Amino acid sequence: MSFDFTPLLPAHVPAPAPRWTGFPEHNFVGGHIDDATVPVDDLRAAIDKAMVKEGSNLATYYLQSGPQGYKPCRDYVAHKLKKYAGIDTTGDEILLTSGSLQAMDLVNSLLLEAGDTVIVEESNYGGAFSKLRKLGVNMVPVALDENGMRMDALEMALDGLAAAGIKPKYIFAIITVHNPTGTILPLDRRLKMLELAKKHGVPIFEDECYSDLVWANERPAALRGLDDSGMVIHIGTFSKTVGPALRVGYINADWDVLGRLIAMKSDAGSGALEQMMLAEFCPDHFDAHLKKCNAVLEGKLDALIGALDENFGSTIEYRKPPGGIFLWVKMPEGVKTSRLAAVAGRQGVAINPGPEWSLGGDADEWIRLCFANPPIETLRSGVAKLADICHAEFGVPEFSGNVKR
Ligand SMILES: Cc1ncc(COP(=O)(O)O)c(C=O)c1O
Repeated sequence: MSFDFTPLLPAHVPAPAPRWTGFPEHNFVGGHIDDATVPVDDLRAAIDKAMVKEGSNLATYYLQSGPQGYKPCRDYVAHKLKKYAGIDTTGDEILLTSGSLQAMDLVNSLLLEAGDTVIVEESNYGGAFSKLRKLGVNMVPVALDENGMRMDALEMALDGLAAAGIKPKYIFAIITVHNPTGTILPLDRRLKMLELAKKHGVPIFEDECYSDLVWANERPAALRGLDDSGMVIHIGTFSKTVGPALRVGYINADWDVLGRLIAMKSDAGSGALEQMMLAEFCPDHFDAHLKKCNAVLEGKLDALIGALDENFGSTIEYRKPPGGIFLWVKMPEGVKTSRLAAVAGRQGVAINPGPEWSLGGDADEWIRLCFANPPIETLRSGVAKLADICHAEFGVPEFSGNVKR
């Protein structure tokens, strides 16, 4: 009999996590990347160099770089933000975090309390929804189209809230390779978004988790790059380019915000080895590595799309995204994706059902498929199995290729 902690737990404590039993056979969830693209040899060489240079500095908290994280890594992040996202910044305006999830937690704890309101893209990162729900924050959804957040809908949301006397704390924006739709917001909408945010005095919380993963290898400037007022807090990560297990994310903001975020980060610094390794790896290798990742990912997306077309035909709808690791798919009429996800999960096919990733009225018609990690053969067999399960449960799709089921 083990000690019972239950009577001691405060009311807000979540239900316990289930024990991890391994990844499912067909894993279309989790935001993982392609394992063959992890640059193992270059990372090994980088960590070796870093240890020779800095190993003895592990003796101190914060190495010799202070609470913002390893300075050469911050300097590289600043360089990368300038080169790819058009943000003119320096390592002094970067805070390295344990993944961008910690960055989200820090920004949320700085700005939000229960009862506050934020504006979000209607379909969104499920992790962002769950953090905001846990904080008791009201979310006002803004509709998207094939190019991302609709500015008429944003304007209506901001005007409506102002008329009701509600000032949202921020607009959460995953506008450069959106999760889950993969859209990239065009420049004119970015400028409009900044104009609307300024008019209403509402800051923007820009999350660029996937912005490096663009097939064309170029993207419009980030909102933080286009803004000169300091109203944009920008976060990003190395999770989707080098590896999510590294847990290296970052925040880029003006000092008056960054200083407050540093004061809230109470863990005495994020892991130093990975920051040191990235600082050695990135300057020489990141650009070529990224191009390679993007070519591999687009190939996998094409394979996924091929398998979907073969197994579901015209019963589904999707738009091929310009980048990222997800496909957002409207399932055949009559399919309830929360039920499909539960049934498929029991048979080793893990998918994200729409209601976890969208506040839209039609959320239960959509699924999110992560295609980056499974080998192409597994993507194909997983889609075929999903179609079989879907047919057994909902009677659709009736055909696989030209063959009636
Ligand atoms: C939009 C978005 N933001 C942030 C994260 C968190 O990423 P990480 O903590 O690995 O940097 C994710 C993870 O999938 C995401 O999809």
